[in-house]
Amino acid sequence: MSHANSTVSLSTGAPPTIAELEADPHGVMRHWRALTPAIPHDGYGFLILRATDVDRLINDARLRPLGTELARLRGITEGTLFEFFSEGMLTADGAVHRRRRSPFTRAFAARLMTELRPQLRRSAESLIEAWEPGETIDFVAGFASRLPAQAIAGLLGLPLRDIPRFTELAYSASRLLSFSYAPEDIPGMEADMTGLRTYAEELLADRRAAPRDDFLSTFLHDAEQEGELSPAEIVVQVITMIIGGTDTTRGAMASQLASLLQHRAQWQAVCRDPALVRPAVNEALRYEPSVASTSRLAQEDIDLDGVKLPAGQLITFALISALRDERVYKDPDVFDIHRTDHVRLHPVFGAGPHRCLGEALARAELEEGLAALAARVPDLEMVGEPFSLRGHFGIRRVGAMRVRRPH
Ligand code: HEM
Repeated sequence: MSHANSTVSLSTGAPPTIAELEADPHGVMRHWRALTPAIPHDGYGFLILRATDVDRLINDARLRPLGTELARLRGITEGTLFEFFSEGMLTADGAVHRRRRSPFTRAFAARLMTELRPQLRRSAESLIEAWEPGETIDFVAGFASRLPAQAIAGLLGLPLRDIPRFTELAYSASRLLSFSYAPEDIPGMEADMTGLRTYAEELLADRRAAPRDDFLSTFLHDAEQEGELSPAEIVVQVITMIIGGTDTTRGAMASQLASLLQHRAQWQAVCRDPALVRPAVNEALRYEPSVASTSRLAQEDIDLDGVKLPAGQLITFALISALRDERVYKDPDVFDIHRTDHVRLHPVFGAGPHRCLGEALARAELEEGLAALAARVPDLEMVGEPFSLRGHFGIRRVGAMRVRRPH
């Protein structure tokens, strides 16, 4: 892969560094989005900034899924981190991708996720019931992480007692899909990804020895009987589901409550009118997305309104920028649950064959979680440091968030 050229910088100043993008993704991208559709990404290809270009190019046949390119660019050439890319669905193309994804599509179908909603609501309510009036709660640990972890455990058939083990490993390993790690962090992440692999292998061995009436047993039986997935592919898809199902939604859950509590009138409106839950979730996913981007590789030279995206380059769709594109959203930097300019398919879940497999699950968790909070604890207050989602690439990092339930 050749290094990204800097055609843009000649007329508009030097493109931002990774550190600048990490420090202020919204500000930096707002500045550049006005000037150009794409900027060099500090040695890692290009960032696509505008909504219509993201929409148009994310499924363009001149681009293909990443394969192992991102791992290679970050100096990862072997081990369980590398295997996440070489054997997983997120980075696979065409028939290989379909083979790896299709065993999950039925279990995560929108209809089944609708049926899951009453159970999600009850889980959310019982988490809330554990809070004492006057108590200050770590909302991320006590609610935002718990609901998604319980849901993915229930769907896959993972024991609830394993939640602390698999979530901690998943939160660490998921940094692989971000720019929030340095080369010296790689051994620790490799150890945690290996821990996740060992965990998934133990579960699979258990189901192989004693099949149960759960998703994992059926998945394993079908995958092995039909011989469609290799042993490494089987284990990596389970890991992908655990990572996909935990970190992204905990960030979105915390972020949506933080945005609402920071805009108290809108929070109170949601508390008064449950019909506003869905628009509030949509707006929160736009305003501060828990996934900042998704990437592909250019297979040939592409001209994007005068910016050359050369063949072989990593092309990163900056969803975080597209979701604040002033060409689509009026006053994009304003959090407004009443806005009427949302697009039909929410861009935060990507597009095309790789569009998020867990969208219906994520929406069910976010909506039922918010509905339970609005109904049960309308007087909730945020205390301490304001919550933040940090990072400009892939899965964003989740900060701390404390809330208090007044007496
Ligand atoms: C708010 C929460 C979530 C957000 C913002 C989100 C976002 C995304 C995005 C942007 C992609 C890549 C799409 C593309 O490249 O076109 C993706 C893929 C994926 N997501 Fe999610 N996701 C969320 C929750 C979940 C959940 C709860 C699961 C649980 C199963 C999940 C599982 C996956 C999987 C397996 C893929 C890979 C799909 C493929 O490559 O075919 N996600 N997600």
